[in-house]
Amino acid sequence: MNNNVTMEKIVNLCKNRGIIFQGSEIYGGMGNTWDYGPIGVEIKNNIKKAWWKRFVQESENSFGVDAAILMNARVWDASGHTTSFSDPKMDCRECKTRHRADNLIENYCSKHKIDGIVPDKMSNEEMEVFINEHKIACPVCGKHNFTNIRQFKLMFETSRGVTDDNTDKIYLRPETAQGEFVNFLNVQRSMRAKIPFGIAQIGKAFRNEITPGNFIFRTIEFEQMEHQWFCKEGTDEKYYEEFKQKAFEFLTSIGFNSEHLRFKDHDKLAFYARAACDIQYLYPMGWQELNGIHNRTNHDLSHHQEFSGKNMLYMDPVTNEKYIPYVVEYSIGADRLMLAVLCEAYDEETLENGEVRTIMHLAPCLAPYKACVLPLMKKNHSEKAKELHKQLCKDFMCDYDESGSIGKRYRRQDEIGTPYCITIDEDTLEKGTVTIRERDSMEQVTIKAEDVKQYINDRIKY
Ligand code: GAP
Repeated sequence: MNNNVTMEKIVNLCKNRGIIFQGSEIYGGMGNTWDYGPIGVEIKNNIKKAWWKRFVQESENSFGVDAAILMNARVWDASGHTTSFSDPKMDCRECKTRHRADNLIENYCSKHKIDGIVPDKMSNEEMEVFINEHKIACPVCGKHNFTNIRQFKLMFETSRGVTDDNTDKIYLRPETAQGEFVNFLNVQRSMRAKIPFGIAQIGKAFRNEITPGNFIFRTIEFEQMEHQWFCKEGTDEKYYEEFKQKAFEFLTSIGFNSEHLRFKDHDKLAFYARAACDIQYLYPMGWQELNGIHNRTNHDLSHHQEFSGKNMLYMDPVTNEKYIPYVVEYSIGADRLMLAVLCEAYDEETLENGEVRTIMHLAPCLAPYKACVLPLMKKNHSEKAKELHKQLCKDFMCDYDESGSIGKRYRRQDEIGTPYCITIDEDTLEKGTVTIRERDSMEQVTIKAEDVKQYINDRIKY
């Protein structure tokens, strides 16, 4: 990550280069919703593909699912979300804005360099006392005049029914994890899966966050990539450690510098959890959670057994032992990872001629276009260039650009992270060769036009 990167630079680049736009922009936007543009959707899809490859395709005993977003409301009773998925909110009586009490305290302590205060470990009463004693000000209007803390429910509710007076309350799922838990028996039986095995899913989740913000870091609609590892009690601690490492290695494998990542144990564990930690990333606004790894014991399957009446016991085919499996969960937001990928890749380089080039050092597997074909002169070389472009598009996303000087065209590709630019010139027509320029080193090689596909394919694999 470049030290000069700011959230403003990332947001502007995203807007101008078709990566991410404000949601419903022509209507004045819709707070904290974002639309991925033509370049952004490619990067995000590549992130999801890399994750799926690592955690499903290459994982010896993991299976994917794609469960419904709308689930039987009893699922959320069993998971505890209907009763306890809430945040402590306070309203500012002066400017009528809403805030999370724990965030007010965290921000105050980091600004005033106060160590040892952990809002997660405090009761609502303790947080109120702290906020009042320190006269913490509203971040919007600067006054100190808050209501008492009330718990704010984070699940979006909707209703299902054919007539207005006969509707059932249902929810937009706040996590994808329950889709994996409720399909534990289906996957185990249909795939003849033996413990330990995993179920993975990528999908949308919705949370009515009190304080969304920091671009796509915390939004009300986002995508999660979650993996539940079902294992026998006693092996859970070993797998918890393994998943911590696997989660970390995945990030370095897609281009993160390990110095920008760190583990952070949770200050307060859920009553059923044995261990929980986050991997944090050094975003422009500081160290923040990127993903979580949790040892959830057999809490989830036990509760689904209790609430659904379905037997969740697994019978070990060798020992005939029966038990409810433990779960090690690994969960990461695709959008939060996308933001980290963009921040990590962003760079500004001063060239020998004093010009500054903005460049995204995206790992080739994540780059939206793997290559761009550039005819040196539109009039003479575009026919041949279009021919090559058409061929390459069959194998990977490939851009074509014939407008402006070659230098300007390189800069445009650098800004969206295209790893290879292929120039078609007189030599292509006369000798059948093309020049390939590599994004980061700017080095150029000349190869035969018919070898280009293989050359690029060899360098974009994940
Ligand atoms: N099933 C466990 C679970 O959902 P979580 O810590 O609440 O745990 C997991 O969420 C991950 O989902 C987070 O580490 C983060 O990457 C992402 N995430 C959570 N809330 C989010 C939000 N409001 N906006 C964007 N990403 C979010």
